Amino acid sequence: MTDQYGRQINYMRISVTELCNLRCRYCMPAEGVCKKSHEDMLTEDEMIRAVEAAASLGVNKLRITGGEPLVKKNILSICRRAAAVEGIGEVCLTTNGLRLPELAKPLREAGVRRLNISLDTLNGEKYAYITRIGRLEQAMAGIRAALEAGFEKIKINTVLIGGFNDDEIGTLAELTRYYPIDLRFIEMMPMYDGGDFGREAFIPYTRVLEQLPELESVEPDGGVARLYRLPGALGNVGLISPVNAHFCAECNRIRLTADGKLKPCLHSDREYPIKGLDFEQMRRVMEKVIYEKPAWHGLLDADNRSHAGRNMNQIGG
Ligand code: 5AD
Ligand code: SF4
Repeated sequence: MTDQYGRQINYMRISVTELCNLRCRYCMPAEGVCKKSHEDMLTEDEMIRAVEAAASLGVNKLRITGGEPLVKKNILSICRRAAAVEGIGEVCLTTNGLRLPELAKPLREAGVRRLNISLDTLNGEKYAYITRIGRLEQAMAGIRAALEAGFEKIKINTVLIGGFNDDEIGTLAELTRYYPIDLRFIEMMPMYDGGDFGREAFIPYTRVLEQLPELESVEPDGGVARLYRLPGALGNVGLISPVNAHFCAECNRIRLTADGKLKPCLHSDREYPIKGLDFEQMRRVMEKVIYEKPAWHGLLDADNRSHAGRNMNQIGG
């Protein structure tokens, strides 16, 4: 269905858990998340009911996120059931990749068509630093497993962090020369608690274009990234600019958090609870959320943090 500004909303992102096996510094505090009580979280049946309600309003694309969706016990069942809902054409999933060696194949078989994998550096020490507890080899093994499992598309998401990985823009982009993957650089968003980073860490997507003048422009694929390609490469380099050139006017998504709140916009504090509702009630709330989706996310910079009042792991990046 369309919202009050005429945007067609056909995409829902569902965060299935706030928990994660990493602690990325721009995403969550060092101590991790305080585990909410089980009763406050959506059950699998409620998630599927929400997908059915969304599909009845014209949502045809789903992305499963977290936290880290692959630490959720019943993730395969959620994906399988969501993919089978009438009207859902595509189920995609965003992951840090650590559990892909075991789960890539089963996920593909459960009907997941595309994967986004997060990777901010190709240096082992830096990976351990940014994730606080991760090992680069695990993530790389995950990417290899994904490549072998036959997904329709694999994208790597890299958050641009000044003073951390701006010296690796070229090396990360080089991955697209040798692998059939897209690598997307994402501007870091100043979330509620993203306290580890100062002003200099928020660098604009234009930094990538300055460093890689050989990038050639490519037709957009309908997603939020501006697309480019290194000459002769197998995959695209994408630039995603939620901060400096926001895409709110074309935004087609709503979000559902693991604790059952519908969010019309990532950076808005508006939340509509759907936990415990039946199909008709969910559908009614969803209709309102879609209609009232805000026009844009408001100013975001080092001084104007997201109004969401949640960290990224509690929304779904
Ligand atoms: N800014 C930009 N991207 C973020 N992600 C998490 N936190 C932020 C942030 N503050 C990204 C992760 C991952 C996805 C889940 O969201 O890197 O790719
Ligand atoms: Fe986990 Fe992703 Fe957040 Fe990193 S960015 S802590 S992998 S949810």
